[in-house]
Amino acid sequence: MSKNLALALGILLTICASVTGLVIIPNWQFRELQPVKKADGTQYPVPYFGEQLKGRKVYIDQGCIYCHTQQIRMKGYGADIRRGWGTRRSVPRDYIFEKPHQLGTQRMGPDLASIGSRQPSAVWHALHLYNPQITSPESIMPRFKYLFTELKEGEPLPVGTFAADLVKIPPVYQRDGVTQLMPTDRGRALIEYLKGLNKTFPLPEAAQ
Ligand code: HEC
Repeated sequence: MSKNLALALGILLTICASVTGLVIIPNWQFRELQPVKKADGTQYPVPYFGEQLKGRKVYIDQGCIYCHTQQIRMKGYGADIRRGWGTRRSVPRDYIFEKPHQLGTQRMGPDLASIGSRQPSAVWHALHLYNPQITSPESIMPRFKYLFTELKEGEPLPVGTFAADLVKIPPVYQRDGVTQLMPTDRGRALIEYLKGLNKTFPLPEAAQ
C-alpha cells in the first residue's frame, strides 16, 4: 500500500469513527426519549410556547450563552450542586424540546439551568438585566438597558404596557430623573423565559 493511500484511509477511518461515535450512536440512544408523567398528571419536560418561547429567542440573539451554561454537572465532577445551581445533574431528557439547546461551554457567570427555581422574582431579573450592579454590586455582566424603557417620575406608561410590570429603580441608582423601568416586549419575554428555567424535577435517570 502506498503511503498516500494509507494516509487517505487513515483520515477516512478517523472521520467515520468520529461521526459514528459523536452523531450516529448518541442519536440512536436518545432519539426515543419521551417526557415523563408527573404525579399531578402534567409532564416533564414541556415544550416552550408563548412568552417563554419568545424570551428564549431573545436569550439566543443576545448571546447569553457566551457567558452562561445551562447544564449541571454530577457530584464529583464539579461544584455545581454545592453552589446551589441545581439539585441534580442534567440528563439528555431535560433537553428533548430544546432546539437549539443552550448547553453552553463558557462560565463567566453562574449556570442558569434552574435559575427560575432559585430566583423567581421578575423585579429582580428586570433590575439585574437593566444594570447587574444593582442586584450584584461587583458584577461584570453587561447591561441590557435597551430591553427596558426608562421613565421619569409621573411620565405616562408606553402604549400597550401594564402598570403591574413597572419596576422602581432603587434611589441610589437613579440617574437623570429616571426612577422607573418598563420592560419592552422582548425584555418581558426574556424575564418570563428566565423565570421558567427549572430543571429540578427529579428524573429517575438523574438519581446518581
Ligand atoms: C460577559 C459575560 C456575560 C454575559 C454576556 C451575560 N452574563 Fe449574566 N452574568 C454574568 C456574570 C459574571 C454574572 C454573575 C454576577 C451577577 O450576578 O451579575 C451573571 C449573572 C447572571 C444571572 C444571575 C445568576 C445567579 O445565579 O444569581 C442571570 C439571571 C443572568 N446573568 C442572566 C443573563 C442573561 C439573560 C444574559 C443575556 C441577555 C446574560 N446573563 C449575559 C456574565 C454575563
